Amino acid sequence: MPISPILCIAGLVVIIYFLWTRRRYYKLMLKLPGPLGLPFLGSAPDFIINKFKMNQRTMYMDKYGSTLLTWIGIQPVILSRDPKIAEDVLTSPQCLHRTSRVTKAIGSVLGPGLLSLKGTSWIKRRKLLNASFKQNVLLSFLSIFNAESRLLVSQIDSIVGQGETDLLPQLVRWSFSIAHQTTLDITQTEERNLRTKAILESWASLVNMIVIKVLIPFCQNNTVSNIFGLEEKTKKINTHLSKIIDNKLLSKPESYSVSTSKSVICQLMELYGKGKISFEEIRGECCNIIQAAIDTTSVTVNHNLILLAMFPKYQELVFEELKGVFPAGGDFEVEHEDLQKLLYLDHVFNETLRLFPPIPFSIRDATEDFFLSNGVLVPKGVILGIDIFNMHRNRDLWGHDADSFNPDRFLAVDDRQRHPYAFIPFSKGRRNCIGWKYAQISIKIALARVLRNFTITTTFQYKDLVSVDNIVMKLNKPPLLNFKRRTS
Ligand code: HEM
Repeated sequence: MPISPILCIAGLVVIIYFLWTRRRYYKLMLKLPGPLGLPFLGSAPDFIINKFKMNQRTMYMDKYGSTLLTWIGIQPVILSRDPKIAEDVLTSPQCLHRTSRVTKAIGSVLGPGLLSLKGTSWIKRRKLLNASFKQNVLLSFLSIFNAESRLLVSQIDSIVGQGETDLLPQLVRWSFSIAHQTTLDITQTEERNLRTKAILESWASLVNMIVIKVLIPFCQNNTVSNIFGLEEKTKKINTHLSKIIDNKLLSKPESYSVSTSKSVICQLMELYGKGKISFEEIRGECCNIIQAAIDTTSVTVNHNLILLAMFPKYQELVFEELKGVFPAGGDFEVEHEDLQKLLYLDHVFNETLRLFPPIPFSIRDATEDFFLSNGVLVPKGVILGIDIFNMHRNRDLWGHDADSFNPDRFLAVDDRQRHPYAFIPFSKGRRNCIGWKYAQISIKIALARVLRNFTITTTFQYKDLVSVDNIVMKLNKPPLLNFKRRTS
């Protein structure tokens, strides 16, 4: 028999076997509609051509329904903006892990930590670190949150009268300083001495490295990423963190007992002392926590200020509320009880997170077969993407004006009528955001101080805000803001 027919038959057998092993995925296509995309590429080219704008997913959902099946390469992905499906997925023990492609990329850039850990390692670590995010620990950070927001105000003072500016770089510095101090248990002075421009730039580039490694998985290989120079920034961050941890371990380890502090590093050093965790694991976890905090909190403050600049009516309502709580203005201290009184600021904060959730989707692997509440069997190996961005703009949940900015929709009476998974900026279930209360307190203190002291305007239009997918969402053009000191 000539060689080519043998090859053809062998090839055919391999293809049939390949399709046969994946038959359960194809069966799913009978239950869930969705775009097929191109062979071997799936819908990936659509996302690339559309420059990762989030409205690509909105278009799919408007066409195929709120829960659909799509393909990224040969990988089946269920995407949903339905709160019932979100609840199924986020509470299911079979969907506790973020998808491997993402966790491998995160792990190789940030090191091992909550964002990428799996199984019992994640359960134990989460239990340990939950204690570092309890109310009493967060309240002990109030002086740091106040001091850093004070510094932010003085930085804004320096740009008053200079026309419209992109505030995001200042906000990143603000969020980095806070996360740096609270996670590593260092003083403001130590933080200032340790934070160089190069360190800040290296942190800023870590997210881009994660994105590269998610999109081009072969860059996750150390040799390959070394060749492309991707490891340089990680090494710089590792050296920086190692120096701090080394100093703490060498100087006075007895003072880092959890009986005196419950900060992340103290909890981890206590474990290290008992031989239950390695130095690399301490470093990796600190890196995970700081990275998870920086971009999420800085973009959230930025989005709040941008939206209030675009909608002066709501900015004035927030200002009037702040004036009631802080009549003198200027340099006041924000206490926890003050935050409880800022109800309208809370509505603005929620409405901003609804329209611009910094983490636009929760992405999980089905580690075993399981059923969704609509009766669909999800086979092991399928990726599940809970589309937080589109859930928050789903007209069936939020009405015909779902895309508009209206903080009043968070008035308590409306709030109670919504499905508990309709608003999930911090995700929900066991693997939700560990830092959600931390984020709320630190962000509201910064907003209170900035909005009490400045009037903010912009010439940028709301209709021109375009959200782009990233690990932390981006706007395709940075809206610029103009600040004017308030006189009363
Ligand atoms: C507005 C600010 C923030 C938002 C919107 C946000 C959102 C989220 C979301 C949606 C997740 C879950 C993703 C998933 O389901 O896969 C998450 C996880 C996480 N967040 Fe946040 N986050 C914020 C701030 C913070 C802060 C300040 C910290 C730490 C100080 C933090 C630390 C983490 C960690 C460690 C995880 C992983 C938790 C785990 O897997 O156990 N986040 N965040």
